[in-house]
Amino acid sequence: MQVSIAGVTFATPIWTASGTAGTGEEIEQWCDPEKLGAMVTKSVSLKPRSGHPYPRTVETAGGMLNCIGLQNKGIEAFITDELPRLRRMLTRAVINIVGESIEDYVQLARRLNDVEGVDCLELNLSCPNVARGIDQGSDPMWVSQCVHDVRSATRLPLFVKITPNTNDIVSLARAAADNGADAISAINTLVGMAINHNTFKPRLSNITGGLSGPAIKPVALAAVYKIARAVKIPVIGIGGIMTGIDAAEFLIAGASAVQVGTALFRNPTAPIQIAAELAEYLRSKGLAHASDLVGRVAV
Ligand SMILES: Cc1cc2nc3c(=O)[nH]c(=O)nc-3n(C[C@H](O)[C@H](O)[C@H](O)COP(=O)(O)O)c2cc1C
Repeated sequence: MQVSIAGVTFATPIWTASGTAGTGEEIEQWCDPEKLGAMVTKSVSLKPRSGHPYPRTVETAGGMLNCIGLQNKGIEAFITDELPRLRRMLTRAVINIVGESIEDYVQLARRLNDVEGVDCLELNLSCPNVARGIDQGSDPMWVSQCVHDVRSATRLPLFVKITPNTNDIVSLARAAADNGADAISAINTLVGMAINHNTFKPRLSNITGGLSGPAIKPVALAAVYKIARAVKIPVIGIGGIMTGIDAAEFLIAGASAVQVGTALFRNPTAPIQIAAELAEYLRSKGLAHASDLVGRVAV
């Protein structure tokens, strides 16, 4: 089950997805960290963010919508309060960072260069630019510049998480790969909305939110398949993974590892169960390594 990405070894290809397991404090009660491939943290920003008002999650058919709004304590509190515990957890720590400008991402990467216990960085490039009112992560030129500048600022392995809210996700992946990303994480949530038909009000405070869970799995699989064919770096598949078979399908589509998000809301031991199911699937196919599945899609 071991996989190696950007020179880092992970015990399994099944990791937690950013924003769905905090910084590991709660999940430790449920999952043996040694059996987790990696703990990907909630996005951390330079300054603390309080996020959007409640309600900010709602269940939908085959998934959920959230508009958490990137709530976090900010990088300094993260380093003081969270990183020491993460460092003690016997799993890889992938620190997901988010900024409102390229300079924010560069500063965050520099700050994390100097501290111990960070195995990899994951850039969350799906942050709406408040001033311009658009999702800057959907602009390939912006992605190129951002990844280029962060790459120059850090020695850490760099995973770039891209948004599916674009008509050309492959261009975003190429922009990241051409500017020094070590892997592409795909996908983040899709923009969605839910309305209460009795009150006529949106069900989320922010009106729209990010859709995740099994409802997005086919969209995510298609994205992974297309990206894996277009870039030479590994792809980390994310979106609606609930079972070991789901994980296997992502590997077959071309992912080298996967992240599990919404499944944790239903079952906090999901990543461990999914890893056990994937191991069983590999045995049933007579395959020795998870990596034997990667990109095996028969088209
Ligand atoms: C409640 C919630 C919070 C999330 N917060 C973040 C975040 O802070 N940063 C990020 O990059 N992705 C965040 N995501 C997106 C997930 O990491 C993942 O990309 C997405 O949910 C698709 O995977 P899933 O269907 O397995 O949940 C969040 C998702 C959920 C459900």
